[in-house]
Amino acid sequence: MEKIFGVLSMKHLLLVSVALNVSLILRVIDGSEKEILNSEKVHVCKNMQLFLSSSSSSLFASTGIEAQDGWERVINLDRGDPLMYEKYWQQMGDKTTIVIPGWQSLSYFSNVSNICWFLEPKFAKEVVRLHKVVGNAITKNHHIVVGTGSSQLFKAALYALSANDASKTVYPSITDFVKSGLQGILVHDLAYYWPQYTSISFPANHDLMLFTVSTITGHAGMRIGWAIVKDKEVAKKMTKYIELNTFGVSRDSQLRAAKVLKVVSKSCTEPSSSSEDESFFEFSHHQLATRWKLLRLAVQKSGQFSLPEFSPQNCTFLGREFKPQPAFAWLKCEHQKVNDCESFLRSKNILTRSGKQFGFSSKYVRTSMIIAITIVPIDDQLPKIQCLAKDDELGCQ
Ligand SMILES: Cc1ncc(COP(=O)(O)O)c(C=O)c1O
Repeated sequence: MEKIFGVLSMKHLLLVSVALNVSLILRVIDGSEKEILNSEKVHVCKNMQLFLSSSSSSLFASTGIEAQDGWERVINLDRGDPLMYEKYWQQMGDKTTIVIPGWQSLSYFSNVSNICWFLEPKFAKEVVRLHKVVGNAITKNHHIVVGTGSSQLFKAALYALSANDASKTVYPSITDFVKSGLQGILVHDLAYYWPQYTSISFPANHDLMLFTVSTITGHAGMRIGWAIVKDKEVAKKMTKYIELNTFGVSRDSQLRAAKVLKVVSKSCTEPSSSSEDESFFEFSHHQLATRWKLLRLAVQKSGQFSLPEFSPQNCTFLGREFKPQPAFAWLKCEHQKVNDCESFLRSKNILTRSGKQFGFSSKYVRTSMIIAITIVPIDDQLPKIQCLAKDDELGCQ
């Protein structure tokens, strides 16, 4: 390993670690929050004297790796906790606040005349409106089934489409999904078919489509997802599964989700130049574009890693062409002596998920692009960083 470190200079490691996390979004917290897209500033950590901290201490606490001296030293890119979106919602202030009086939501039932009897009408209305605004899915003549996250809906779909295999409990890989083709119906997990991640080229019109607020607005903790289902019987069976499993879906969460989706739709249809009413998708698209740009820049400078290349496609919603900017980046360790990229990065306190876990090569790792990142200048505290990689050149021993 020593040798490998010798070959992969610490500067390269630092560059990539910076790129993977800290520099994904470089915001110098100096009150004015200037974004730094300038390559010089990206790689000269020495001059910038950047330090990362997470706005979510619990995220790091849950890794089980101790922070030292009060500073976070572990960068967790393994999980896709979507805290990138926090800033937008903070900016929105009270716009998404709802008050639920104590006498509300007593009944299990939301609408007994609907196949999905626990679906809140307000939530259904906002789902339909958002798909119409974005143009990413057809909802007309389809049934909406709400679930406790799309994870539950996936299981409900398995239950509905296969009598034999209703007991699966883990979220499947995409490959499993594609291979499943249960009863001739393909389940389309469209969690990322939103304009911050990819171009919207047509309204999807599949038999069974899954969506979730976790990936659209970042409200993973609400645990709300929905399925758009063509076949009435399949929608009924999915509803039955959720009835047996959790006897419905939190009505309070659905009302909160309805409000958030309404604000998103409004931000698109009544955009304003003020940051308060900034279009949600323009904002989040820009956030991800910045992160991808900085990651590519640092990877290119390192010469030791690579990323997949994507072709641009026209987006009917944003009205321009752009390349996909996924919520996860597949990073490849190019150096011939590094076969286990995940272990290699872990030795540098960077947590990622090995390609092996996806049935792929361990030369690759999956890294989250949507975690919370804050960068603050720490002129007088650089020694505390001890750099992710100790590097004499950087003066961070
Ligand atoms: C492909 C995919 N589907 C769905 C989800 C979200 O699932 P849930 O709605 O249960 O939070 C994720 C979250 O990371 C995902 O990556």
